[in-house]
Amino acid sequence: MEVIISKTYEEMSALAAREIANLLNTKPNAVLGLATGSTPLGLYKELVRLHKEEGLDFSQVTTFNLDEYVGLSHSHDQSYHYFMTENLFKHINIPVQNIHVPSGTALNHLAFCQWYESRIKECGGIDLQVLGIGSDGHIAFNEPGSSLGSRTRIKTLAKQTIEDNARFFSRPEDVPIYAITMGVGTIMEARKLIMLANKKNKAKAVALSIEGPVSCQITASALQLHPDAIAFVDEAAASELSMRDYYLWIQKNKPGAPRPQ
Ligand code: GLP
Repeated sequence: MEVIISKTYEEMSALAAREIANLLNTKPNAVLGLATGSTPLGLYKELVRLHKEEGLDFSQVTTFNLDEYVGLSHSHDQSYHYFMTENLFKHINIPVQNIHVPSGTALNHLAFCQWYESRIKECGGIDLQVLGIGSDGHIAFNEPGSSLGSRTRIKTLAKQTIEDNARFFSRPEDVPIYAITMGVGTIMEARKLIMLANKKNKAKAVALSIEGPVSCQITASALQLHPDAIAFVDEAAASELSMRDYYLWIQKNKPGAPRPQ
């Protein structure tokens, strides 16, 4: 996995946004996988800026979000659908019919999950998937113990995740304990993965996912098996990486490597 260490959150977000902009410039009808959480907010802000100031075009883009809380409708202000509308979709020119976020209110969850998987395939698969990482090393809502071959399904959230999310809800009993999430296997089928992490509280999860053994206990470690995965991290999140200096060395010298003529 390639590791790109940035001095600031803004720099990290801009580098990740550049990956998406480069993709859209070569493939305007790309399929993007998107994530929620505080981590990708800077990335979405930068994409909005690129759209408004540099004409980055989303008119042919299709998106699939990773996950959603079970029980929250898309108009609930803590739903992931609402988050995406407020922080990205309403600021860019993506057609509403091209947006996919798992439904937290589907009556038949199993049928919905199967439809979500088939819809991704129908759209040609995900070209680039954005990921954050939970403090317990999860991606999307694939909590410790999730099969590395898992598909879109309902997950019971880990206590750590419920505690991490409690800050967004006024009462502890309102914090959802179930979510609908793409599986690790679903995520691994994306052609490119970019994982973002900032702040010290992610340092341990980042180190375990990049340098630890591949394990269902740290589902982000599955990225080690992906042929095209990049971790964009700030210095705080990189602080427990034992090979930090090596990654910086590669980062400095890779641009000068011989390229095909
Ligand atoms: C939730 C989401 C993940 C996200 C994680 C971290 O668990 N399902 O996709 O990566 O939160 O969120 P934050 O970026 O706010 O730390």
